[in-house]
Order: sequence, then C-alpha cells, then structure tokens
Amino acid sequence: MVKKIKITENGPYEVSPDIPLVQSVIVIDDRGTSMSWKTGKKYPGQTEPYHLCRCGRSENKPYCDGSHEKEMGIMKKKFDGTEVATHESDELNTHVYEGPELTLIDEESLCASMRFCDRGPRVWNAVMQSDKDYLKQMAIEESCDCAAGRLTVVDKEGNVYEPKLDQEIGLVQDTAEKCRGPLWVKGGILVEGADGKPYKIRNRMTLCRCGESENMPFCDTSHRSSENMRGFDE
Ligand code: FES
Repeated sequence: MVKKIKITENGPYEVSPDIPLVQSVIVIDDRGTSMSWKTGKKYPGQTEPYHLCRCGRSENKPYCDGSHEKEMGIMKKKFDGTEVATHESDELNTHVYEGPELTLIDEESLCASMRFCDRGPRVWNAVMQSDKDYLKQMAIEESCDCAAGRLTVVDKEGNVYEPKLDQEIGLVQDTAEKCRGPLWVKGGILVEGADGKPYKIRNRMTLCRCGESENMPFCDTSHRSSENMRGFDE
C-alpha cells in the first residue's frame, strides 16, 4: 500500500499506519542560531491509520481529539481548513539565483522559518560566491537543512542536492522560539488533498498544524505567533 497522508475536510491529517512519527528538534547554539537537526522522542508504531491534529486546538497534541468540530473563539467558529496552495510548484513565487558553481531555486511561499539559511553567510550570498569551496559547502548545507523544501541548490551539471531522508513525519520542535512547529514530511510521502488530488511529491515539505496558515496545507510560519503552539510536544 502507498504510504499516504490524507487531508480530511476541515479535520485532521489521516496518516498511513506504517509512517513513523518522531520529534525533529532544532539544535541551536548559544545565540539561538539553528545549527542542525536531531531526532527526539519516537512515538509508538500504529496498526491503523492515525490522525494528527491540523487545527492546533487539540488537548492531546500531536493527535486529533475532535476539537476541530467545536465552535471556538469570539466568533464561535469551527476549524476552517480550506486548502489554498497550488498542488504543483508555486512558479509565481519562485526565484532563481545563478551563482558561479551553484544555482539556488527559492520557492518562497513554502517558507516555514526554521532559519538554517541564516546560519553562516546567508544561502543567497553563499550561492552567489559558490566558486569558493567554503561558501559552496555552506550553500549546500543550508539549503539541505531547509525542512520546508523552499530552498534547493543545483550544480552546473544539473545535479540536485537533496538530503537523504527516511520516510517519516517529524514534529518540529522550534527550540529558540520555544514552540511547536509544523509536520515535517520527509522522504517523498504522498500528500492527498481533501478533494482527493495529490500534491507534488517532495523529499521535504512542512504541513501546517497550528490551523492558522494562509497557505494551507503548507506551513507559512504562523505557528510562531500562535497561542496553540506554545511549548513543546510531550
Ligand atoms: S484537527 Fe482534530 S483536534 Fe485538531
């Protein structure tokens, strides 16, 4: 059976039981700079499809507890999870930066603000000076650490630099911001919209789980200001 994350209409993500669920923790230095990823807690395996909260309201995160059905807030509204993102690449918001050794493809609307691109020389600057070995290496590392897949580098022979990622879902723990982040979908797992249409398969993508993205189903960094996402997963 194909491993799949199915988006349910105004409800949770329904996940194939054979997709592992772990915490993906941002390791920071003493200034709060994102340096690397580490795997935290691994959640118990499942025998049936399981449901991950997409609305941000669950009291049993990361799992759905049915809160998406409740009328909440001053407007007394149920969760509206309408998908608005394109199912393919967002060409209107994609920029290409041609450096001497590397080209950077920047699909800006996918940004989940994990900030690895700012670790050293910013990835955009590093690419433009990629004839220097150190900066070429930095550009590759910074783009490969981009969980959202916003940033991709390609060399002049057309080789695409992608990290080797096992198929799993990482619950991002944003250490510096002290908040939960999106679902990091790794290794090319199929994501199917509520209308049954698949999204472009990517090695890296981040799905909203705070319920506040304006680019549903993808993360748009809204979790950083969401009350629902304060603290870390248990
Ligand atoms: S999607 Fe069901 S509680 Fe959040």
